[in-house]
Amino acid sequence: MTDASMTATHPGAGMLIREDVEDTGYGREFAPFYDRIFQHDESAEVTAEGLARIHPDISRGTLELGVGTGRIALPLARRIGPVDAIDSSVEMLSALEGHRKGEPVHAMHGNFVHELPDRRYGMVFAVCQTMSMVRSRAEQRRAMHRVAQALVPGGIFVVETGNPLQVHTLMGDRNPAVTTVPLEAQGGWLTTYSHVTESEAGDQTWRCRQVWIESDGTLHTGIEQSLLTPVEVMDRMAAEAGLVPELLFATWTGTPYGDEAPLYIRSYRRPTESASREGTPR
Ligand SMILES: C[S@@+](CC[C@H](N)C(=O)[O-])C[C@H]1O[C@@H](n2cnc3c(N)ncnc32)[C@H](O)[C@@H]1O
Repeated sequence: MTDASMTATHPGAGMLIREDVEDTGYGREFAPFYDRIFQHDESAEVTAEGLARIHPDISRGTLELGVGTGRIALPLARRIGPVDAIDSSVEMLSALEGHRKGEPVHAMHGNFVHELPDRRYGMVFAVCQTMSMVRSRAEQRRAMHRVAQALVPGGIFVVETGNPLQVHTLMGDRNPAVTTVPLEAQGGWLTTYSHVTESEAGDQTWRCRQVWIESDGTLHTGIEQSLLTPVEVMDRMAAEAGLVPELLFATWTGTPYGDEAPLYIRSYRRPTESASREGTPR
């Protein structure tokens, strides 16, 4: 990622943006109401605290993939200092700027499947379904390889994403299915029209139209797509990239992961050079 490839400044984004960045359009639809569902609240603080706790060495740097509105990067930067961050959505990056209160988050416009900053980090992380938003296994593998190359030896990659079993539980035996859940903390309702399709290779894609209904009846809507990624599949891609699985949790307070968990939190370590030589993961 070089300044030479920067092409324009977006009003509100506060940074140079590029016309060549491939973006799914998620942010265009969701940015106006993303923060109503995923609030900059205590749960974001708990996630940031968890990331700060497992960071192997904050002096080696930190990178978030898919920073969105800065829900996690901003409170993390308040704890550990500079955080680099990449997102393909100008709309989400603009929203991040609106939340910033001087935190040292260096946000970059880019697609992490295709490029990462030209340096190495002690910790790279992708939370809140971001890795599942990558459109194909081939692209997920490509991203995983890039991350592995961007880690210092001994550095970690932390992934938080949805547990596919819970999508099927949510849908019951219906496909497509419509579900509505009250989100009490947010004071609204989320209606989801879900449809899961399967590729010849057996990979499942969950397409959903989300309708966010405020308590006064105001509606917002957007289409979201996730490539369902069981933890074993994520582990296999990480192993192919030379990363070694370590932690596995269901929550940032350390609840053990199980089939009933809505999401998983998994960390992978790039082995140190001596561990690689000896063939022993550390
Ligand atoms: C579900 S949001 C998560 C945002 C934030 N991490 C959070 O926890 O609130 C996913 C974000 O990842 C971004 N994203 C998805 N795929 C991406 C890619 N390949 N490259 C860069 N950003 C991507 C989207 O634009 C969106 O802002």
